[in-house]
Amino acid sequence: MKRVILPLALLTAMGTVTVSASEQFAMSDADRAMYSEMLENNPADIFVEEGGEIFEEEIGGEAALAKFLGISEKELPKYVAGFPRYIKKLGNVVGLDQVMQAMQVEQGKEKTPLKSGKMFSMLAYVKSLANDEVINIDVNADEHIKAAYALGEEVYMTPRGGRGLACNSCHSADIIGQVLRTQPLPDLGENNVAGTWPAYRMTKSSLRTTQRRFQGCMNNALLAVIPLGSKEMNALEVYVNKLAADKQKTMAIPGLKR
Ligand code: HEC
Repeated sequence: MKRVILPLALLTAMGTVTVSASEQFAMSDADRAMYSEMLENNPADIFVEEGGEIFEEEIGGEAALAKFLGISEKELPKYVAGFPRYIKKLGNVVGLDQVMQAMQVEQGKEKTPLKSGKMFSMLAYVKSLANDEVINIDVNADEHIKAAYALGEEVYMTPRGGRGLACNSCHSADIIGQVLRTQPLPDLGENNVAGTWPAYRMTKSSLRTTQRRFQGCMNNALLAVIPLGSKEMNALEVYVNKLAADKQKTMAIPGLKR
């Protein structure tokens, strides 16, 4: 792996405090109490439920999804835990939201935009079908996913934007756990990004998806924001999901995040 040289501005911003990587959130005791209460009763559960209803009514539910993917309904949970995937019918490495859009087109319906609350809810529901499955993305399954992984790694490692930062500048193994503006820098594999988004984001009071969370960091770090569902964005998700797969993490949707 490439060694990262942190820009001086970032090092200065980070200060010297180091906390353990298991300390996922910088929170007050009151916030921490609220967090554990919300864990019991995740506000996103309602979005997942709604997403399931829309998915069933508008797209035909699990049976239709399995049929579209050319697998049995029984195979669906394990299969869902391996996205993004190369889907031959679509000729691309895609996310499950794009699979649902393709199903809508096939059924002569209007596509639900990738960036919509409705799609976030449906995506959360479909991903929750894989809950408790080990994340099993196979980046060697075919040449397309191999290429996506390589592109994802490049996007992750390449410094961009006004401050010359890459994802890896803040999320590399040798920097995680250090604190940037009160927030510990998280290990994206250990934090199981692949298995915990869509999540309820407490600071945004809403359900957010993996790719929306990526865009949040792009905005904060002044990196040009990559569009949802684009080749680069899907590739980045492939790369980040592999980090959780390497740690044998399991699906647990919806997540709950600061
Ligand atoms: C300037 C430093 C910085 C850069 C650059 C950066 N991040 Fe982050 N990232 C953070 C911090 C700090 C957090 C934790 C924030 C919080 O808890 O609210 C975080 C959180 C995340 C999370 C959520 C982790 C979780 O627990 O689920 C994801 C996913 C993520 N970043 C992905 C990326 C990606 C992809 C890139 C590159 C496009 C990137 N980040 C670039 C600082 C950065």
